[in-house]
Amino acid sequence: MAVQYNEDKKIFRLDTKKSTYLMGLTPEGYLGHIYYGDRLYKATENYMLRMEEPPYTPSVNKREKSSFLDSFPMEYPTGGIGDYRESCLNVRNEAGQMGCEIHYVSHEIYNGKKALKGLPASFGTEEEVQTLDILCEDEILRLQVVLSYSVFEKENVITRSVKLINKGDQKLKIEKIYSACLDMDNENFEMLTLHGSWARERHIQQGPLRYGKQMVSSTKGESSHQEHPFVALVTPGTTQQQGKVYGMHFVYSGNFIGQAELNQFDSVRTVMGINKEEFSWILKAGEEFQAPEVVMTYSHEGLGEMTRSYHDFYRNHMIRSKYLHKKRPILINNWEATYFDFNTDKLLDIAREAKSCGIEMLVMDDGWFGVRNSDNCSLGDWKVNTDKIIGGLKYLVDEVNKIGLEFGIWFEPEMISPNSDLYRAHPEWAIQIPGREATQSRQQYVLDLSRPEVLDYVYESVASILRSANIVYVKWDMNRQLSDLGSTYLGAEEQQELFHRYVLGVYALQERLVTEFPDLLLENCSGGGARFDPGMLYYSPQIWCSDDTDAIERLMIQEGTSMIYPLSTMGAHVSDCPNHTVGRVTPFETRGHVALAGTFGYELDVTKIPEEDRKMIPEQTKMYHKYHELVREGDYYRIASYRENHLYDCWAIAAKDKREVLVTYVHVFSTPNAHSRRIFLQGFDPEAVYVLEGTEEKYTGEMLMKCGFLVKGFWGDFKSKLYHFVKVTE
Ligand code: GLA
Repeated sequence: MAVQYNEDKKIFRLDTKKSTYLMGLTPEGYLGHIYYGDRLYKATENYMLRMEEPPYTPSVNKREKSSFLDSFPMEYPTGGIGDYRESCLNVRNEAGQMGCEIHYVSHEIYNGKKALKGLPASFGTEEEVQTLDILCEDEILRLQVVLSYSVFEKENVITRSVKLINKGDQKLKIEKIYSACLDMDNENFEMLTLHGSWARERHIQQGPLRYGKQMVSSTKGESSHQEHPFVALVTPGTTQQQGKVYGMHFVYSGNFIGQAELNQFDSVRTVMGINKEEFSWILKAGEEFQAPEVVMTYSHEGLGEMTRSYHDFYRNHMIRSKYLHKKRPILINNWEATYFDFNTDKLLDIAREAKSCGIEMLVMDDGWFGVRNSDNCSLGDWKVNTDKIIGGLKYLVDEVNKIGLEFGIWFEPEMISPNSDLYRAHPEWAIQIPGREATQSRQQYVLDLSRPEVLDYVYESVASILRSANIVYVKWDMNRQLSDLGSTYLGAEEQQELFHRYVLGVYALQERLVTEFPDLLLENCSGGGARFDPGMLYYSPQIWCSDDTDAIERLMIQEGTSMIYPLSTMGAHVSDCPNHTVGRVTPFETRGHVALAGTFGYELDVTKIPEEDRKMIPEQTKMYHKYHELVREGDYYRIASYRENHLYDCWAIAAKDKREVLVTYVHVFSTPNAHSRRIFLQGFDPEAVYVLEGTEEKYTGEMLMKCGFLVKGFWGDFKSKLYHFVKVTE
């Protein structure tokens, strides 16, 4: 049993393979956090709730109830009544007063997991997951709060979400609803988060907790380039292989907050949820509100184990696409090849050359619709531009198919250009504050997805194009953040619902898309990787990781991204040099090795690149065919980080049965007069003997991991090499 309740001790116990999570009830029905950490095997107690210490629980000492509330390790803290740390739920009554206090009412334990209405969420069979729903209530507001915990034993994951039900007859205003809280005693924790910008998304950063609040967040209407809805607390000295790690990851694609607060009693409250800024929700009598899910994992074997738990969890329980375990076609995208300057003939030239190199799909990027020859117009006018796509879309797709390539297409469905027929017809469909000129970004506005007719228009625009030709892949882009939050559809009281309703609109659109086109390969994108989050993964098995395709910058982007996301989800392409973003020149081979640690594809004009590069493409596509399954399904080990050592980068992918291990080493900078470099590999069967493919060299797994492996023979910067170790059978 993954979930148990001890009626005598009033303790809830959640067990995964390697972790245990305990909560306990006080005599008054407050739900407190007792423990999260290494798996416990014996009986459990609740003394960590410190109910025997001053200020005591309110039934013993009502006089100091506020001190109690402000120090008790609350499982789900509510605001307004005396817990001055960050609350998770703030509710205002009809009279305008804010206060809420919840007590335990009942609970239910069942096999399996329910879907979250309107939201992406993890899933599992009755054998794979067990769920605990704890019903709490504020008796004054008659507000029910259902705290859900789903335990995925095998992957060491516990997911949490919260549902509100207004059982009373007054209208309530929800001003804040977070999805998870973890109140723990401090262990000198450091906070590890992912920080970035356009073209350098998700770099790892880490630092000690200070007293007060430290947070990552977004107010941009999407999960963002800058900060990521992920927080890990780690003990000092944590490495890939040792140290305690608590990971929290938010399954949501809009404004979020992830925050750790170190307080006067040296306990840390970590919360995660929808950002409270510019959020409120009117909950009328009888209505429900579902908050999104948080994915928690605990590892006592460092970051590496956390990584592998998240990878397995997302592969097994979040990504729905049929492509999850299927080989993705090697695509060539024309964005960096042509930008807006292309037509049917140009695309067919690229397709022919690509086919001869072993590439399998052509993706037509931005610029095929309306009168879009630059980024200043036509978003919303999803009609094929037959001046460019001479002969029409079906003709182009058929011709590409005849050449032997599949066909994919780019959309940016959530947007509207001020210079578009759509805007001229429906200016009220853009998010803006009437009377105030809305701020443009990339010369575009965002559509108001809270409007049902906008959702229908957007959906039909995309779907009718897909129905018109044999299109097997869509890149769904989103190239600006939200501002000027105003909807002419919503009432005055509901304006602060717009950010969340927008995200619900995106989810509704993608749900419709994957339902009508279940075989479609969908790749989400947002000005590169600004909406790379588990919510989007629920709909698309891969997401464009970054507009930066420079192999060296990608080392850091892919290091941070792969810390929580499977490699198969990271859109990665080989592009031309000098790199269009940073101007760096790297060997074509290195670009291929780095892109192999993602979906692998091309983003260049194959008819124009240097002949020596073009000649390498058939070899690279062979490399992809050889390793795609290992990369997609294997266990990922981070061996060395260029971000840390400033010289080299290394990672390994091991087959689940340890039959083979592929090590990628990137020699970023050469150092003079240096010995061969020893690196400690991981992921091998210590007992087994491996041969290094292409050589006669044999190693035991134990030697490679304990004694190390010597890398040598590099001359020049930005070089790289694959080392493929295969288990010897005799
Ligand atoms: C975004 C994407 C790019 C490309 C352009 C097209 O920036 O990230 O890959 O599709 O839009 O405008």
